[in-house]
Amino acid sequence: MLRVPKVNLGSTRLKVSKLGFGTYDFGVPSLHVSPEEGGQILIEAHGLGVNFWDTSDDYASHPHVASALKSVPRREAVISTKTYARTGGEAEKSMENSLRELGTDYVDVFLLHFVQHDWVQACQKVLKHLATLKDTEIVGAIGLSTHSVAVVREAAGFEELDVIMALCCKASQKTIDKYHDYVPLEDGSMREMVTALKMAHEKGKGVIAIKVLGNAAQPFIKNHQSYIRSVAKLNFVDSMVIGMKNLEQVKKNIKALIIG
Ligand SMILES: NC(=O)c1ccc[n+]([C@@H]2O[C@H](COP(=O)([O-])OP(=O)(O)OC[C@H]3O[C@@H](n4cnc5c(N)ncnc54)[C@H](OP(=O)(O)O)[C@@H]3O)[C@@H](O)[C@H]2O)c1
Repeated sequence: MLRVPKVNLGSTRLKVSKLGFGTYDFGVPSLHVSPEEGGQILIEAHGLGVNFWDTSDDYASHPHVASALKSVPRREAVISTKTYARTGGEAEKSMENSLRELGTDYVDVFLLHFVQHDWVQACQKVLKHLATLKDTEIVGAIGLSTHSVAVVREAAGFEELDVIMALCCKASQKTIDKYHDYVPLEDGSMREMVTALKMAHEKGKGVIAIKVLGNAAQPFIKNHQSYIRSVAKLNFVDSMVIGMKNLEQVKKNIKALIIG
């Protein structure tokens, strides 16, 4: 039977599946996945070992996660959500809204969304604020998501940061440059990103890869097995969050991860 292995997320106490479920697509209006349908897919994915579910305050997929949580015991799911908030107060408010929408009293991972290089130093202040919330146990781990090598390098040194979610796919630089709209690396090269993520992991940060399938750009989808396998081989990437729409994609991606 297909079953995804779980690993420690950096130095946190969280155990996440090597394949995480990206729920962005559930909230896209054109797709018409209802919270009940999306919730059912998450429940079945959980049955295959996918316990790590990624959402955000702007994905409109909190209700889908909330629906799944009616069947999956809360302690058996690791939920990450994000915010575009740029102050501690705004971030705290976003977290409160997210908890309400998710129907839970804590989130496992809370990330500042899409941090670009011009904000990385200032974002440390917001992370310091969020770190105080860890004492109240409404959040387990905090961090940021980014498309920038420079951000990964700097954020790896932030003491209060637990997790980095970053663009990381093993395509050639030529492919990445050609499909920049799908794989929007903000600066540097993919080789430099991989080195920066390795360094972050060595410092105890949890590392999560996104854009592993190039946001469904054709060359990536044609060879989805090899793209998934090549990221799975990076032992400093704890989990890869892949956007999925149905159980068929979940099973295909688990197979690629485990069997190749
Ligand atoms: N923090 C951030 O800055 C950030 C940014 C983007 C995404 N994310 C997170 O990462 C998740 C993934 O998004 P991404 O942009 O990184 O995209 P991705 O995972 O590289 O690609 C996802 C797309 O690939 C296709 N796909 C997945 N499995 C497939 C399979 N087995 N066969 C064929 N097609 C398959 C699906 O599109 P089709 O069905 O159309 O082919 C899906 O929408 C999001 O849901 C979200 O949770 C975070």
